[in-house]
Amino acid sequence: MYLKMEILKPTRTVAMIAAISQDYAIGKDGNQPVYIKEDLRHFKALTEGRTVVMGRRTQQALPKGYLPKRRNIMLSHCDVVPNEYVEIAHSVEEVMEMTRGDQEVVVIGGGMIYGLFWDLADVLYITHIDVVIGDADTYFPMIGDEWELVDESDRRIDEATGLAYRYCEYRRKCLNNKG
Ligand SMILES: NC(=O)c1ccc[n+]([C@@H]2O[C@H](COP(=O)([O-])OP(=O)(O)OC[C@H]3O[C@@H](n4cnc5c(N)ncnc54)[C@H](OP(=O)(O)O)[C@@H]3O)[C@@H](O)[C@H]2O)c1
Repeated sequence: MYLKMEILKPTRTVAMIAAISQDYAIGKDGNQPVYIKEDLRHFKALTEGRTVVMGRRTQQALPKGYLPKRRNIMLSHCDVVPNEYVEIAHSVEEVMEMTRGDQEVVVIGGGMIYGLFWDLADVLYITHIDVVIGDADTYFPMIGDEWELVDESDRRIDEATGLAYRYCEYRRKCLNNKG
């Protein structure tokens, strides 16, 4: 299976986008533990016009049940189509087949789906929020030495929460080794 994905891989970039706390928390009780309003605009700018890939639980938490102006693909073990704007996939391989013609696929979560696509990801668009959640139930994978920080915004303050945050872009080192 891994070899097959490696053959499919070179035709597109796999990006991940997430807002994470200092303790890597991304979810609690089915929602994000903290929201930064400006981050929503950032998220839209990076995902509109692209294909977004999400888990069924993340899809269910979307206010409209899908993200407009994007191709929505939802991973599930079942065949229940939530609405006419969402396509279902049952595996990473199926997603890669469905997006064969895309330049960039953006994985938007949640925790299970970040984990599933982690080894295929080339780019991470991370909003780092200066807060420790402590009692979250969903976490982002650890961003280790295999990632290089290639872009970083200045630190901003969210007016509503008073929290500091910054946008970072990471690229996986030694892309050539991945095929
Ligand atoms: N901070 C952020 O940036 C961010 C972004 C997104 C989400 N979140 C948070 O993350 C949490 C949700 O994450 P989660 O890990 O609980 O759920 P999730 O990743 O959104 O979805 C999990 C579901 O995906 C499907 N799935 C998982 N592995 C699969 C596989 N190998 N093949 C086919 N389908 C598969 C299953 O659906 P079925 O049960 O239908 O089979 C599973 O229940 C929420 O709290 C949400 O707010 C945070």
